[in-house]
Parts: sequence; structure tokens; C-alpha cells
Amino acid sequence: MKQKIIVRKARSSDNDAVFKFCEKTWDWGDYVPRVWNRWLEEKDGRIFVATINNVPVGISHVKVLKPGEAWLEAARTDPNYRRKGVATAITKECFKFALQKDVKLVRLATNSDNTAALRALRKLGFKLVSEFVKMTCKKMEADKSEKTKWAKVRDEKEIWEFLRKSKCYAKTAGSFTILYVWASLQKEDLKKFLAERKAIICKDQNAVSGLMLIDDGVSREWSENSVQTCYVDGTQEAVLDMIRFLKERCRESGIKRIYGFTCDHKPITSAFDIMGFERDTLTCIHLLEKRLSADEIKCSWVISSEKQLS
Ligand SMILES: CC(C)(COP(=O)(O)OP(=O)(O)OC[C@H]1O[C@@H](n2cnc3c(N)ncnc32)[C@H](O)[C@@H]1OP(=O)(O)O)[C@@H](O)C(=O)NCCC(=O)NCCS
Repeated sequence: MKQKIIVRKARSSDNDAVFKFCEKTWDWGDYVPRVWNRWLEEKDGRIFVATINNVPVGISHVKVLKPGEAWLEAARTDPNYRRKGVATAITKECFKFALQKDVKLVRLATNSDNTAALRALRKLGFKLVSEFVKMTCKKMEADKSEKTKWAKVRDEKEIWEFLRKSKCYAKTAGSFTILYVWASLQKEDLKKFLAERKAIICKDQNAVSGLMLIDDGVSREWSENSVQTCYVDGTQEAVLDMIRFLKERCRESGIKRIYGFTCDHKPITSAFDIMGFERDTLTCIHLLEKRLSADEIKCSWVISSEKQLS
């Protein structure tokens, strides 16, 4: 007889059981204990817990990033309870939460070698929309850029026009990342990067030939002196020039490390390679998305409750 899976909102008292089954999620452990209390208190997000016989056996976190768009992360099932439909049941509850918040698009990221997650997600209707790589550079040697500068608020229109025509923007599914969270890159986001002086542009014969958005969220989250690229676009020549500019600025302000997050697009990744960035792994990061519809959730609930009761 199959065991009944109950999915509910997480409580702080779940932490011992959850942290225990997260202990060996990855070789290095898991980040769930570090973010648990923060996530429990969110108004626009929720941790769901699945229990079997009142014992927590799985979790997942869902968060509304902006109107109409949510992010799923930290799907974890206790290794003793895998392949019983736990992650599937929790994810469907996340869909329900998202729909209640008027979300129509949910996204998440997973490594390209995570077969279990990718299969479960495919069954849930997620589609691969983009592939990213993460590279790291710790050498901030002095190198002169020629055509790059900090973008100004007044450059917004020109940059937006560049993005609108960009193959790379389409290839990223129109998204940018901060830490490991991808969101759609819209005019409002671009404005914020510009206002915070976190946008770099390369200009060739007076036209934008490259754009790089950066952030220091990783620095705060991982307590280190680093920056990350959130979005990178342009010809190889433009990207090379923008990396030189960024390295020089990092050297001036004592920043020790750059995490290069970028769409897996050859002219861009090869520029990072040339500039001494190294890949942490051979795998890439798959960005998946699913468009939600109320009907589909009704239907999936029938399937899910049948699975629980059989
Ligand atoms: C990925 C993970 C959350 C899946 O949890 P789960 O509760 O076992 O998933 P489900 O039982 O809902 O699986 C649904 C379907 O996914 C597929 N699947 C799940 N695990 C699989 C595996 N190890 N190998 C192949 N297919 C798998 C199957 O098609 C399964 O349906 P089936 O059992 O009827 O064939 C779990 O393996 C886990 O915690 N992994 C470590 C953390 C992780 O990788 N999280 C995802 C990060 S994005």
C-alpha cells in the first residue's frame, strides 16, 4: 500500500527533520539551513513541506519575484522517500500558491547532469528555455579597456533597443540572474541597474555593441569580496573590452573575485575563457519554465490525490 503524502506550509519546528535529510544533498552539504528562517518569514514566498505519517520527507521553496512571475528552488526529498511522488506533490502545491498570487510563469534552474530533477520537471510540464555557465576569475590584472564605460540612466532607450534586437537576449529567454535566481529582464530592471551604476556598455562607432549587468549580491550572501555578472551580451570583441573594464574597476576597489554567469553562447564564453575565467564544472545550468493555467492545476490535483490514496 502506498503511503499518503500530505503537503503543507513549513513550520520552524520542521527544521531538525529537514536539516537532517539535507545534510548530504551535495558533497559540500546544503544551503537550506542558512536560508530557512529568512524564507519562513517571507510574505511573497513559501516553503512547502511534504509529510508521510507526520514526518517531514521533502521540501520546496516558491517565491513571487515580480508580478506574474515566480521562482522555484530547493526541491529536496529525503533519500529514503524518493520516487514516491513527494517532489511532484510539493511542486503542484507550489503551482497552486503561485496561481493564487496571479502568477502565470514559474521558472527554476538545475544542473544539466541532474537527471532525477530534470525527469521529474519534464513530467510536470517544464520546458528547457536556456543554458548558462558559471565561471570564476580571481586575477584582477591591470588591463586597459578602450570602448567601455559605466552606462548612464540616459542610455536606457539605446540599450533597450540593443536588447530588443539581440540574439543573445532571445537565447537567455530574456532573463538575468542574481545569485542563482533568474528573472525576466524588463525595462524596470534595466532602469534599476542603471540607477545603481551596475550597467556597463561598450560602444563601437557610437552604437552599443555590448552590455554587461553586474551585482554584488553574491558578496553579501557568501560573505566575500566579489561581484557577479548578471547579464552579458555583445560581440566577442565587446565582451573582451567589457571584461577588461570590469577587472580594472575590481582591481581599483579591492574586489577579489568575479563570478561570470552568462548564457552558454560561444562568442561570450570564449571571451571569458580568453580573459582567464575558469569553469567550476563541465556541466551547465538549465533554466526551465512552465506557464501555469488554472485548468491544468485542477486536473493535476485529481492525478495527485489518486496517487496518494492508491
Ligand atoms: C530531484 C528530487 C527532488 C526528486 O524527488 P522525488 O520525490 O524522488 O521525485 P518524484 O518521486 O516526484 O519523481 C517524479 C518523477 O521524476 C523522475 N525521477 C525522479 N527521480 C529519478 C531518478 N533518480 N532517476 C530517474 N528518474 C527520476 C521519475 O520519472 C519520477 O516518476 P516515477 O517515479 O513515477 O517514475 C530528489 O531526487 C532530490 O531531493 N534530489 C537531490 C536534490 C536535488 O537535486 N534537487 C533538485 C534541485 S533543482
